Amino acid sequence: MNTMPASESVLSVQGAAKYYGPVRALDGVDLEIGDGEFLTLLGPSGSGKTTLLMAIAGFTELDVGSLSLRGENITNLPPDRRNFGMVFQGYALFPNMTVAGNIAFPLKLRKWQPDAIKARVKECLELVQMERFADRMPSQLSGGQQQRVALARALSFKPSVLLLDEPLSALDKKLRADLQWELKDLHRQLGVTFIYVTHDQDEALSMSDRIVILNHGKILQIGLPEELYNRPKSRFVADFLGKSNFIDAVINGGNEDGFICQGGGERFVVSAPADVAVEAEVQVALRPERIRIADPGEEQFRGVIQQTSYLGERCHMIVEHSGFGDVLVSAPTWKTKITPEIGREVSFGWDDDAGVILAGEK
Ligand SMILES: Nc1ncnc2c1ncn2[C@@H]1O[C@H](COP(=O)(O)OP(=O)(O)OP(=O)(O)O)[C@@H](O)[C@H]1O
Ligand SMILES: [Mg+2]
Repeated sequence: MNTMPASESVLSVQGAAKYYGPVRALDGVDLEIGDGEFLTLLGPSGSGKTTLLMAIAGFTELDVGSLSLRGENITNLPPDRRNFGMVFQGYALFPNMTVAGNIAFPLKLRKWQPDAIKARVKECLELVQMERFADRMPSQLSGGQQQRVALARALSFKPSVLLLDEPLSALDKKLRADLQWELKDLHRQLGVTFIYVTHDQDEALSMSDRIVILNHGKILQIGLPEELYNRPKSRFVADFLGKSNFIDAVINGGNEDGFICQGGGERFVVSAPADVAVEAEVQVALRPERIRIADPGEEQFRGVIQQTSYLGERCHMIVEHSGFGDVLVSAPTWKTKITPEIGREVSFGWDDDAGVILAGEK
């Protein structure tokens, strides 16, 4: 797992904890963030994402632990001295200033010269494609436009780290997708380190260099998007990032090529490595899109379709199996071998490399 960044670490969080009475908002977080990395903090509501971001920004004081920036201890450094750019959920532009005024504000605070400010404001407006809107007031802009300005304002003073807390969550789906591409582009162009908070798994998968999964103030797993998706270490991660089926199984045998699992009255092979012994009781996670569905007899297991849901490019089916229970299957509509109909008898199966053994989970 890529618990360490690919590039040199710029920001380091060590043993960070924050308590609100009995609530452990952060509960011992260790994290290295790489130079120029796009790192996403992903987790359900209340998992500690904003608390961690605010602690990094310096607005929330840690109860335990420390932060360092390029080796320098910044745990007690006030937010303005950290010089990080910030973009929050729901734009928060200054309503009484024009677009240009908003972008110039952090530069005035930092006592830039008027000429330099003017040039930089122009540059930033171009960066987010808002040149034509320099003299508008925030109230005259759409949500997406306001968020672009907020981004330009956060980048105006050339911070080395940009902290973003659900910056796109107030936007509709289409606009959100457009801005995701733009943000990614901007990140590539600028080489600034992005620490990005979201609870949207698709956003996390599509934008990040690495993803940190948080729950109850703890890091459950860190890795590349494809690592987390294909090799989740826990049921929580397998379920939170995408959908999974879970099969209770016992390890019947195995070697380095894989394990023979007995579960739901069936035997099947999981070829991926796992830290388990023979006789261990485990759960096997199985992505719905890895399950093939066909006419009876063509695949290993038998079932009956209980529910279908047509989604355009894909079709979801719930197939009832006597031992596994309800199995969610996600099949590409254009190449599904059967017509999905409730009550239809089908067979289903998967490749040996499809399952993931979740060690220590039953
Ligand atoms: N100022 C505060 N006082 C008391 N409890 C707080 C405070 N700030 C956060 N918490 C609690 O700490 C926990 C983590 O909150 P946090 O805002 O970091 O979650 P989050 O992951 O950002 O959630 P969301 O996705 O809803 O924004 C929650 O249980 C929250 O209620
Ligand atoms: Mg939050």
